[in-house]
Amino acid sequence: MLTRRRFIRNATLSAASSLGFAGYGFASALDLPGLRRVTLDLPALPQSWDGLRILQISDVHAGPYMDSERMARVREMAAKIPADLIVFTGDQIDRRPSDAEHFARGFRGIEAPLGVWGVLGNHDHFIDPQRSEWALRAAGIQPLINRGVVLEREGSSLALVGVDDLQAVDDRGPDFSILGQFPSAFRICLCHQPQGWHRAAAAGAHLTVSGHTHGGQIALTNRNLNAARFSTRYIAGPYRRENAFLYVSRGVGVGAIPVRVGAPPEIDLLTLRSTTVSAQVAA
Ligand SMILES: [Fe+2]
Repeated sequence: MLTRRRFIRNATLSAASSLGFAGYGFASALDLPGLRRVTLDLPALPQSWDGLRILQISDVHAGPYMDSERMARVREMAAKIPADLIVFTGDQIDRRPSDAEHFARGFRGIEAPLGVWGVLGNHDHFIDPQRSEWALRAAGIQPLINRGVVLEREGSSLALVGVDDLQAVDDRGPDFSILGQFPSAFRICLCHQPQGWHRAAAAGAHLTVSGHTHGGQIALTNRNLNAARFSTRYIAGPYRRENAFLYVSRGVGVGAIPVRVGAPPEIDLLTLRSTTVSAQVAA
């Protein structure tokens, strides 16, 4: 069994902007995100997918505190990061219907070799899920809402599955059973809220990628004195439960109040490592 220390091989945050004292509070809420690099050791990852780099951009919250220019700068930042694929994990838009156009203007043209994919979050649903889905497409991001795609490399399959938000209403809602459509693949589930991790894992997700918490947004400590503790124990960073893994991004934007304390904005570069390869190298 891998220890937690080995699973999280490194986690560093290199800021694109100054994250000194001004990194806390109002200033950091309106700053460009830092880049957090994390390596995840995953026992079930096929050797041929060893080294896959996923750039996660979560909780942009296009709106009063996230203008198109700032989003365009995040897009320019992403273009310089050598990711194989990019995922948006929900809350692309914040509070007004016009934020959909706003988001599309900011991120239009974003690209990655294996595609740019996205799911919706609770804010996207509060405004209008159709409009939010349009915003993804208009920016060139392919919605993965209760569906999955299979990527092939040297005979091994990797399934990227997205589920709808846990707070979706009407006839919508997350369908974790989609994961069962890919029995022979390594399965990654995009699920906005980390509270969905147990359901995703039970349905067969090897790795679940979430946002939603904003790292607590007001966090006096990483995981205890943290505002996100009211809704989930999975606040930020990597988690492991037996052979199921979760990664939670602190995200880029802010919700109701434009304040981040102890939870600076970030985008996340996840490098997936196959432990089979690691073991061979160590032998
Ligand atoms: Fe959010």
